Amino acid sequence: MDKFIIFGGERLTGEVQVSGAKNAVLPLMAACLLARGQSIIHHVPALRDVRTMVRLLEDMGTKASLEDHTVSLDTSMLEKQEAAYDLVRTMRASVLVLGPLLARYGRARVSLPGGCAIGARPINLHLMGLERLGAKIELTGGYIHATCDRLVGNNIRLDMPTVGGTENLMMAAALAKGRTIIENAAREPEIVDLANFINQMGGVISGAGTDLIVIDGVEELQPIEYTVMSDRIEAGTLLAAGVITQGDILVKNCPVEGMHVVLDKLRATGADITVNGKDVRVQMSGPIQAIDIRTQPHPGFPTDMQAQVMALMTIANGRSTISETIFENRFMHVSELRRMGADIICEGSMAVIRGCDFLQSAPVMATDLRASACLVLAGLVAQGATEIRRIYHLDRGYEKIENKLEELGAKIKRVHS
Ligand code: EPZ
Repeated sequence: MDKFIIFGGERLTGEVQVSGAKNAVLPLMAACLLARGQSIIHHVPALRDVRTMVRLLEDMGTKASLEDHTVSLDTSMLEKQEAAYDLVRTMRASVLVLGPLLARYGRARVSLPGGCAIGARPINLHLMGLERLGAKIELTGGYIHATCDRLVGNNIRLDMPTVGGTENLMMAAALAKGRTIIENAAREPEIVDLANFINQMGGVISGAGTDLIVIDGVEELQPIEYTVMSDRIEAGTLLAAGVITQGDILVKNCPVEGMHVVLDKLRATGADITVNGKDVRVQMSGPIQAIDIRTQPHPGFPTDMQAQVMALMTIANGRSTISETIFENRFMHVSELRRMGADIICEGSMAVIRGCDFLQSAPVMATDLRASACLVLAGLVAQGATEIRRIYHLDRGYEKIENKLEELGAKIKRVHS
């Protein structure tokens, strides 16, 4: 398993490009199942999860090619409507094929995703919504067995604004007979990207980005060529690297529209953040101010940036609090930060961080995707050489992050073992 060695203390300066968004491209790839023929998606990030999604779709009979940030998916010869456990257990987003398979083929056999490091992450709301559209759902042997005649539009009220649930139901409803209204829908920018994708295929979806989405089902959707949005979480992570190293970084091609809360919170740490079109510049000189964070569904502060901001707070002036309201176990990075000298107390979903003067390097272990990013940020400022193990977690969601940071002046290297 690869690891990173980071020699802390370098100030990061320069320009860096944001890659395509993992959490947008995965649902777009699943949505290709809605149309017969070859769809092409550009600006695709080179990530483990993207390769896993390609394998999953190929396993069903999709003809796929992935090269140089473009993926093409031809579902003309699809012969299997299944997502097997060995793939689903490595990537929960596999469950996003459920809605499109039901909508296009009237059947799907998808492994239940099981839990993950950050929480139980059930999919009960996905299944409730699909049943509201007329699907028959049976759970046997760890698999979801779903069948339907043609799905029929209906009103669906979600108990909570689930991102994946909203995406699955939007895709299912796109080919249903009649109108579907999703109330309390998730409002993330990646949902808007998916709605744009389906509308370009010939779908009729309005309200994406709000908590009320209306989908008028159509008879058929066409394959298209599309460019996925950029990754707002990678962008936020790179900006945080500028803050923690007292740097000056221009992060190019950011999806600024979906980043306002994150930019405001980074400003509150004392950073000078200037936006020019899709480019965001972060300049930091002086002490990091302590801030309080409460993660919320979009447009609130994103849970996927929580660990990264905690890294900043470990060396901030004073006491910060972070309340994680989305996932029940998303503080796995705390014990690793403590090994580096951080002063953090956790009480349920609340963490209290008392800023210290510096972090010490130490061997630490990545436990999940964003916890890994947090440890990289901490390593950039820790005194000495920090070793981060199990960085395969990082490779799921960050394209060549070590190259991007190295070009900005970081002393970081990947050690293959
Ligand atoms: C998406 O996960 C993202 N993943 C996550 O990013 C992100 O953290 C999350 O949304 C929240 O923004 C992708 O888009 C591939 P949810 P998802 O359904 O769809 C509960 C990353 O680091 N819930 O909005 O799984 C669930 O337990 C990853 O890039 C139910 O109870 O998130 C959780 O507590 C991590 N029942 C909360 O809702 C359901 O049926 C949010 O889950 C569905 C969800």
